[in-house]
Amino acid sequence: MNTLFQAERIDGKGFATRLVERLADDVSMLKTKTGLTPGLAVVLVGEDPASGVYVGAKHRQTQAVGMESYVHRLPAQTSQEALMTLLGQLNADPAVNGILVQLPLPAHLDTHSVINAIDPNKDVDGFHILNAGRLATGQDALVPCTPLGCLMMLKDRLGDLSGLNAVVVGKSNIVGKPMAQLLLAENCTVSIAHSKTRNVPELCRTADILVVAVGRPEMVKGDWIKPGAVVIDVGINRVQREGQPGIVGDVAFAEAGHAAAITPVPGGVGPMTIACLLANTLTAFRRQHNLNTPTAR
Ligand code: GUN
Repeated sequence: MNTLFQAERIDGKGFATRLVERLADDVSMLKTKTGLTPGLAVVLVGEDPASGVYVGAKHRQTQAVGMESYVHRLPAQTSQEALMTLLGQLNADPAVNGILVQLPLPAHLDTHSVINAIDPNKDVDGFHILNAGRLATGQDALVPCTPLGCLMMLKDRLGDLSGLNAVVVGKSNIVGKPMAQLLLAENCTVSIAHSKTRNVPELCRTADILVVAVGRPEMVKGDWIKPGAVVIDVGINRVQREGQPGIVGDVAFAEAGHAAAITPVPGGVGPMTIACLLANTLTAFRRQHNLNTPTAR
C-alpha cells in the first residue's frame, strides 16, 4: 500500500461491537420488563462447511447478548415436507421470536417456498416476499441483515444520503436488491450494475456511494472509484496469495486510497451482519409484544 492511501477505513468490527453492547443492554431491560427471553431459531440443512461456521457464530453471539438460541441441524436429505413441518412448529412457538433458514439449501429443496413458509413477523432475514414488498413500498419491514449493516455504516459516515448517486454492483436477493431499496428509501439516485450491464467501470465512476456485492476477488479496480466516494465492500473471498491462504473483498483495496472511506475485508461489513441479525430479532420480539420499536436504521 502506498503512502498516498488517504481513505478512512470504516471500522465495521468496532461499530458491530458497540451495536452488540447496546443490544445486550436492551435484552436485559426487556427481560426485566416482560419476564421473557427473546429467542432466535436457526435451521441448517446439510453439511456445507461455510454455512456450519456461520451458524456456529450466530449461535454463540445470540447467547452472548443474553438471548435464547435454538439451532436445528438437519441432514442433507431432509424432505421439503419435514422442513415445512419444523417451520410450522417454530412459527407457532411463542419462545421463538426470530427464524432463520441458512442458505444455500440443498438443491432438492425449493428455497422460495421454504422462505415464504416462515411467519413474516419472525423472518429476521427479511427474505419473505411480504418483507421484500414492505421494504419496497416504504412500510415497516424486517430488513435483510447485510444491507442493513451497510446502510448503518453509510449513515454514520455521511449523515443524510439524500440526492447522492449510489451504485450497487450485484443484484442478489440477499444483498444487491434490498441494498438498492434501502438507498432509494434514503432518497439516493440508485443504479444497480450486474453481469449484463454495459460499461460497469464507467457507471461506478458516477457513484458517491459504491456498494459491491458480487463475490469476485478484487473485481472493482481503483480507477472505477470516483475520488471522494464512500465504498462498501461486501465481498468475502478466500484466495491463495504467494502460497498463503487469505481473504480479500470484491474491491482492490490497495488501489482505493483516493476514496473518502472504504470498508476493509476482513473487519468491515462482515461483523455487522450478525449484529444486525440480533437487532432484527429484538425488533421482531418488540413487535410481537407490542413494545415500542425504534427503527434499527
Ligand atoms: N447465506 C449467506 N448469507 C446469508 C444470510 O444473510 N442469511 C441466510 N439465511 N443465509 C445466508
